[in-house]
Amino acid sequence: MKNTSKNNSNRIIIFDTSLRDGEQSPGASMTVEEKVKLAKQLKKLGVDVIEAGFPVATDGDFEAVNQIATHVKDVTICALARCFPQDIIAAGNALHNAESKRIHVFIATSEIHMKHKLDMSKEQVIASIETSVKAAKRYTDDVEFSAEDATRSDTKFLIEVYAKAIAAGATTINIPDTVGYSTPNEYAELVKTIKKEVTGIEKVTISVHCHNDLGLATANSLAAIQQGAGQIECTVNGIGERSGNCALEEVVMGLKTRHDQFNHYCTINTRELVKTSRMVSEITGMGVQPNKAIVGQNAFAHEAGIHQHGVIKHRQTYEIMNAEDVGFEGNQLIIGKHSGHHAIKQWLEQHHIEMSSVEIASLSKKVKKIADENKRVNDQDIYDCIKQNTVQTIENSQQVIPQNDNVNPLEFEREVFMSNARW
Ligand code: KIV
Ligand code: ZN
Repeated sequence: MKNTSKNNSNRIIIFDTSLRDGEQSPGASMTVEEKVKLAKQLKKLGVDVIEAGFPVATDGDFEAVNQIATHVKDVTICALARCFPQDIIAAGNALHNAESKRIHVFIATSEIHMKHKLDMSKEQVIASIETSVKAAKRYTDDVEFSAEDATRSDTKFLIEVYAKAIAAGATTINIPDTVGYSTPNEYAELVKTIKKEVTGIEKVTISVHCHNDLGLATANSLAAIQQGAGQIECTVNGIGERSGNCALEEVVMGLKTRHDQFNHYCTINTRELVKTSRMVSEITGMGVQPNKAIVGQNAFAHEAGIHQHGVIKHRQTYEIMNAEDVGFEGNQLIIGKHSGHHAIKQWLEQHHIEMSSVEIASLSKKVKKIADENKRVNDQDIYDCIKQNTVQTIENSQQVIPQNDNVNPLEFEREVFMSNARW
């Protein structure tokens, strides 16, 4: 069992909330069986905490948390609860069989939420935090407290709120940017202030929970690490309410790839990232955009000839991570209208086809023409070009002269130049 209690090492706790906040994505609801299947994969991925659901919300959610607590071991299982007795009882009961359990209690602390949503005074909010954290402690020592809408809350009040939660027994205090309003500098500053001003903060883990309304969830989470946050809450593929949550794969690879900047690590098995992403996508029916960082289909694909040439010669010219490290089989050179002879040459090698450089040049032109018309060139298109003998071979030539009316001589010259005078 990984240690999720406060420690002073540089290890970041990865708290996955795909099954709770992620499921709050419109249309992403999952069955109990699907949740158990995903929880098993999250365990394999190596997350430290799985937020399995909000047991008081529905019978299905209760059952999912209960099943995950029963069948998924060696990882902390967490259940969400508002500051209401019935929520805490439901969370405690659903987690009964967990090997390691956490109850996550939350209440809003911003003026706008307290006035318009809760209809509670500051004093009432403070009192309910104290009662609720203490009630959760009856089920487990591991209690997390979240001040919902923390980034729009009055900082002085927030300091008081967190101090009260810690005094009542919270072991993790979470700082949600509930509506994705914060910016990296501002969020980092808030974490810094909380770390400096809250009584008892040295005993607990500071957690960050960022939504992506301005596309800043990953940047905000990573900025917070530099100010002492020890836990990141995130979801696979960044699924979640509205524009979603901080994407797990992004923060994890950010920490790993830019260790020089963040100087912290986590124990995620990054080779499971793509598999987990595909499972989430399949279960929720929410596709991953091709250009999605880390797990998108194009994340390690190169189409431009200049890039392909660079990558073939030395991968790091255009790659900051290895495709294999996140679970892809390898990078991809896409044969398209921007690709050059090098990519065709590699395709031929992979398909064990030998051709002279003159033939390759001619084939490349044909393929580009198809790409121009069809956008995507697949293996069959290339085979067809070769088979139909549409490739023109110019023998004994030191230089290839364009034979096709559609070939622009200037563009051809540029091609020859870019291909580094291969003839
Ligand atoms: O975004 C949020 O504020 C939440 C809390 C319940 C932590 O999801
Ligand atoms: Zn949230």
